[in-house]
Amino acid sequence: MSIRRSVVRGVGAYLPKRVITNDELSQTVDTSDAWIQQRTGIRERHIAAEGEFTSHLGLQAARAALADAKMDAREVDLIVLATSTPDQTFPATAVTIQAELGIQKGAAFDVQAVCSGFVFALSTADQYLRSGSFNTALVIGAETFSRILDWKDRGTCVLFGDGAGAIVLQAMDQPGTREDRGVLTTHLRSDGRHRDKLFVDGGPSTTGTAGYLRMEGREVFRHAVGMITDVIEDAYKATGYDSNDIDWFVPHQANRRIIDGSAKKLGIAPSKVVTTVDRHANTSAASIPLALAVAVKDGRIKPGHLVLLEAMGGGFTWGSALVRW
Ligand code: UT7
Repeated sequence: MSIRRSVVRGVGAYLPKRVITNDELSQTVDTSDAWIQQRTGIRERHIAAEGEFTSHLGLQAARAALADAKMDAREVDLIVLATSTPDQTFPATAVTIQAELGIQKGAAFDVQAVCSGFVFALSTADQYLRSGSFNTALVIGAETFSRILDWKDRGTCVLFGDGAGAIVLQAMDQPGTREDRGVLTTHLRSDGRHRDKLFVDGGPSTTGTAGYLRMEGREVFRHAVGMITDVIEDAYKATGYDSNDIDWFVPHQANRRIIDGSAKKLGIAPSKVVTTVDRHANTSAASIPLALAVAVKDGRIKPGHLVLLEAMGGGFTWGSALVRW
């Protein structure tokens, strides 16, 4: 019996031109290239130019994904943008991208789940596509975290960067077999008891300012691997797949030690792990599609491959998605 699934048609990414290396950062805060590389795997990050906004980054990534899909923007009837650094408090940054793409149908909105944002946005779009509400979605993760960093706090400013990534998802009938392409399952979780471990100390209804990112890094680190592996086990239980079946593990790119620790605990071979945190640091909701774009472009991820995505971040929020490319 055929089944309607959300199939990935294209992927694209965009990083701002300006690169800041660890050495450059060590001239302004008390840190070093050795410390940053050893503790996180990060070598450099990209920073948006003055006047370059989250919508600009997201738009570039969306255009790249549409070009990869060989599709016209007018086919898109849903935009779900994951971001914690919107251009404005409202309207949603997604509607700016919608207008720039010349799309006048369907719906566009933002979702906010910090570093898990892309998995939350993917899951949201998948529900709408499978239910028949919409047919073709742009799922975008775009962030300008440089704007909410306290550049004097070495505990956080060395860890994040700006960027955007996007995929085009299209509802397509699949045969209903193990070979089905598309999003096979998604699993979302949150636990607000941890909201003070990673947060921004401002907002429209509290301080009236955008605020700065604050994090108890060690606490986040302590929870990360357990939460990530739990929600991946949920994906395995739902589909009957396990780590041996996975072709590519594309995790949220926050810290190489978290990525390696999760892969090890799950028994996923290091050769199957896509890691790009070295070149763009933690770009929050943008990190998974940025990594996907790299691995598709360099020929690692191919149609038919089983791709496992996961993320964990502020809230805490965490989630997984299993996709047959
Ligand atoms: O997407 C989710 C978002 N966040 C994350 O995933 C981040 C999760 N946390 C982490 O990645 C790690 O906890 C960090 C990379 C933030 C820190 O690594 P750590 O191994 O947990 O280090 P630590 O916080 O225990 O700090 C070790 C030492 C401390 O010095 P003392 O107290 O041992 O003397 C820090 O003051 O490193 C010091 N330190 C630094 N030194 C040089 C903290 N930041 C820096 C720095 N440069 N930038």
